Amino acid sequence: MHAIRYERVGGPEVLRLVEAPLPEPGGEQVRVAVRAAGVNPADWKTRQGLMPGPPEFPRGIGVEIAGVVDAVGPDAAWRVGDEVIGWSVGGGYAEYALATSLVAKPGGLSFADGVAVPVAANTAGGGLEALAVKSGETLLVNGASGAVGAMVVQLARAAGADVIGTASAANQAVVARFGARPTTYGEGVAARVREIAPRGVDAVFDCAGHGFLDAAIELRGGTDRIITIADGTAADKGVRFYSRAGATALDLVEKVAQRVATGEFVLPGPARTYPLAEAAAAQTESETGHGLGKIVLLV
Ligand SMILES: NC(=O)c1ccc[n+]([C@@H]2O[C@H](COP(=O)([O-])OP(=O)(O)OC[C@H]3O[C@@H](n4cnc5c(N)ncnc54)[C@H](OP(=O)(O)O)[C@@H]3O)[C@@H](O)[C@H]2O)c1
Repeated sequence: MHAIRYERVGGPEVLRLVEAPLPEPGGEQVRVAVRAAGVNPADWKTRQGLMPGPPEFPRGIGVEIAGVVDAVGPDAAWRVGDEVIGWSVGGGYAEYALATSLVAKPGGLSFADGVAVPVAANTAGGGLEALAVKSGETLLVNGASGAVGAMVVQLARAAGADVIGTASAANQAVVARFGARPTTYGEGVAARVREIAPRGVDAVFDCAGHGFLDAAIELRGGTDRIITIADGTAADKGVRFYSRAGATALDLVEKVAQRVATGEFVLPGPARTYPLAEAAAAQTESETGHGLGKIVLLV
């Protein structure tokens, strides 16, 4: 099978399309014939050595897949032919990937849209739980137009919260479509938020970083009920860096996928697709940190 592998940390050029052995599922694992692989910021951060990766080289890359179960381990809960979305083991940028954390892909959802759900929904739901956001409270979301931010806004709105979301000037209408009151990020953001919510905000979910935490602390009057998933300086400022890596809320992911399939939840934009062989270009686009819609490798 074809798969993307890399032999050292570095720029996008270290990613290579290679011939690799077909992985065999054991225990509860299944092998998924990958139709779409999600390109997440964590992928290029790992490739650059900014996040821990598996100890061995050459390595696979990518954690998020949508596809069709193609072979099952002896204890697997899935059958050959099931359409699934979820997390891959050992590299999702590949024609076939092993997996255990999966949910059924709703029939009405394409593979490219389905693969936009697992990481975003799981991170958004976990972060909202950590912030204990309740109905009637005001939540501020930085980076509300992104993959995770979009899910944070829609899950918080569904839970009855009032949401203010930041995005670039170009993406204000998109954030409003998710149900948030939009404003732009950058210089003066605290004053703009205060104008929208003169009585303050109850919690802050930073999905983008870029030096937003000072404004968040100013708006909250302290570090209580602020989380970031993107700002590495969080600990220095006494803010909680939230990560749900490895802990998956499969029920929530399945529910969100169904809501996306019925149109109750919307994705930030249509998937921006690349062939598997162009993984480097896909990651280069992800590194810009802008643009609407999930970046997806079609396999
Ligand atoms: N800790 C975890 O468990 C976890 C899990 C998932 C993701 N993450 C991290 O969360 C971040 C977002 O991931 P994603 O998949 O949602 O990325 P994404 O889809 O690329 O979204 C990036 C977001 O950042 C916004 N942005 C860009 N420049 C900004 C600035 N200067 N100030 C404020 N916002 C800015 C973008 O807005 P515009 O497009 O409107 O400019 C967009 O809303 C990444 O850093 C990722 O590594 C962490």
